[in-house]
Order: sequence, then C-alpha cells, then structure tokens
Amino acid sequence: MRETFLNYSLPDIDSDEVYSVKDVLLSGWLAKGPKTIEFEKRFAEYVGAKYAIGVNSCTAALHLSLYAAGVGHGDEVITTPMTFAASANTIIQVGATPVFVDINESGCIDVNKIENRITSKTKAIVPVHYSGQACDLDVIYTLADKYNLFVSEDAAHAIDTYYKGNRIGNNPKGAVSYSFYATKNLSTGEGGMLVTDNETLANRVRVLVTHGMSRNAWNRYDKGGSWMYDIIEPGFKYNMFDLQAALGLVQLERMDEMQLKRKELITLYEVGLSDIKGLTLPKPSEYTEHSWHLYIVHVDENETGITRDEFIERLKEYNIGTSVHFIPVHLMSYYRRTYGYKEGDFPLAEKWFNEIVSLPLYSKMTHKDVNDVIEAVRKIIALQSSYI
Ligand SMILES: Cc1ncc(COP(=O)(O)O)c(C=O)c1O
Repeated sequence: MRETFLNYSLPDIDSDEVYSVKDVLLSGWLAKGPKTIEFEKRFAEYVGAKYAIGVNSCTAALHLSLYAAGVGHGDEVITTPMTFAASANTIIQVGATPVFVDINESGCIDVNKIENRITSKTKAIVPVHYSGQACDLDVIYTLADKYNLFVSEDAAHAIDTYYKGNRIGNNPKGAVSYSFYATKNLSTGEGGMLVTDNETLANRVRVLVTHGMSRNAWNRYDKGGSWMYDIIEPGFKYNMFDLQAALGLVQLERMDEMQLKRKELITLYEVGLSDIKGLTLPKPSEYTEHSWHLYIVHVDENETGITRDEFIERLKEYNIGTSVHFIPVHLMSYYRRTYGYKEGDFPLAEKWFNEIVSLPLYSKMTHKDVNDVIEAVRKIIALQSSYI
C-alpha cells in the first residue's frame, strides 16, 4: 500500500511556469494586458478559432456566450443533466429555463433525443464534451440550422479533444467555452477562454467582459492610451489577467508533452484493468479523439459485489483519491424545487451516476502511481468477488 495519498488530480507546474509568473510579477503590470492578449491569440490558433477572449472561469464564458447571443427571459436552452452545475446555472442566470435531455452510452447528450425537446421557446443548445469526448456535433449543428438555435459548447473538459479529425474550437453556430481550473488539462488555477468565429459576438463579449467599458485598463493606462471611456452596456467583471495568462502561455506550449503523458498513463490503465469483470473502462465513440481529461470507470455492483460508494471508500483506505463526475444536475435541490425534476426523469444519467468513479489522472502522475491504483482496484474487487 502506498505511503502517501494519491490525489485524483493535480496541476502540472514546472519551473518555466514559475519563471513566467515571476516575470509578470516583477514587470509592473499584473492586470489584463499584453500577456492576456498574447495568450488569447495563441489559444485561438491552437483550437482553430478566429477570436478568443480570456475570462476568469469557464462559468463566465458560458454565461457571456448566452448573454451576448441574446438568450434571456422566457427562452429555453437544451443541455445535459450529466454535467457540472455551471452548464445549467448559467442558463438560469441569463433568465432562461434549462431543458435537460438524457445521455447516450458515452455519457454525452443523446443527440437523437434533442429534437423532441425543441419548442418555439428554444433558443440555444449547450452540449457538454463530457470527460473529454466530443458530442456528435454534426447532428447538433444541423438542428441549430433547422431551428435557428445558438450553440454554446461547454468544452471545460475538451482542450485537445477532436471531433471527426478536427480539434474542438471551431463552432460555426456559436461559441466554445474552456476551463483552466486547477484540475484541467491546461491550468491557470482559475481561468477560462471563450472562442468564436462570429465577429459580432466576439466584439460584444470583449466589451461585456470588463463592465461594458469601451476601453480596458491596458488601452487606457499604456503610453498613448486615453483615460476616457464610455459604458456601452452594463457588463460584468469576468476578464482574465496577466498572471493567469503567464501561466497559460507556458502550459499551452507544454500541451503536446502533457497530453502525450496522459495517453501513456491511459495505456497503462487499459492494460492493467481491462480484464476485470464488472469494471467497465471508457470507450470513446468512433468520431472522437479523447482529451483524457477524466478517466471514468463504471463499477457494476452485481458483478463485483461492491457498490460504487464502497469502492471509493476502499480505494481511500489504499490511499487512492477519486471523484465522481457528476451528480446529475436535475437531482440538485434547487432544480427539483424550481422545475419539479425528480428521480427517474433521466434514467440513463441516473444509472450512469450510480456506477461511476473518476480514477486519478493527471500528467504529473508517475507509472508507479498508476500501478498503485491498478493494484488497489484489483485487490478490492478480488476480495469482494474472489474473481482473481
Ligand atoms: C463540464 C463543466 N463545465 C463548466 C465548468 C466550470 O468551469 P470553471 O470552474 O472554470 O468555471 C466545469 C468545472 O469543472 C465543468 O466540469
């Protein structure tokens, strides 16, 4: 048994990130400025989008995308219950109603069930590229064309996810929101990015991201800048700042290396766990290349003789941390109380939730760490079911 606790996720920070942040700390400019502008440019190139706007979270990006697209009171927005609350909360924050659609066999929204839920009030779809696999975007974009809907992709897990050979980030029907939260494949501690190919939307988001001001601080305080500004509309305080961007720029340069490492660890997991009866490993659909943000396995209680909750507790005894992504949003008390949702409404998401465990996965993990997890999982299940 390992001596130290293995977290389910840790950021991968090297000396280059430390020097980059130190340079900004000593530069005299900490707020949104040249580093943020450079990071926005590089990130747009990386994902293949025309415009990128740095924000302080993916939640802010999701909120801004719907707000800037004009989604508001009386509107309905379709999303999945198998997501973090931010995907649905931000729909409510613009005044609209979240309408959930159950998931498919990979945990993403079942695109074949969306059309049934479209009404005259539907204004947008928020597909979530769950765990790092792409949703079936062709079907979603076709529905968006047919019903004139905005598509706000939640790509919190999907930096370096591919759909049919193209990296996520090129959305012809709206915007894509990324998270750089501490557990994400690319991390700035907290942070996010909104990307779009729509110039009008990008211009509005750029204004909304700092109070609706016509000029941000960098434009005002730099030599040649002017102190004068106007408030074009009441905006938010959602902007990224240069310390975050200094981290992000180095992380982006290290993305290929970090992603290779994740894929190496996945191969170890697959070799070490694939023969365990009652444990189902992730099977990405044929149209997606997984970013491997999360490694989610399913524990079948009947086959393994252990519940998902017991499995998590036993792993903890072996000093292995895990998480669960996610408790279906419709089962949260606010959603039950406000919209009348109840158990049984989205049976596939609920079954999924009862079976899943996210095993540790991050690019700083060592082969020994993965082998410790594999050994613990095998021992726990063998003890329960005498299968080995
Ligand atoms: C699917 C999903 N969407 C949105 C978010 C929100 O991201 P952030 O913490 O950057 O606001 C998360 C956070 O983990 C997430 O998992």
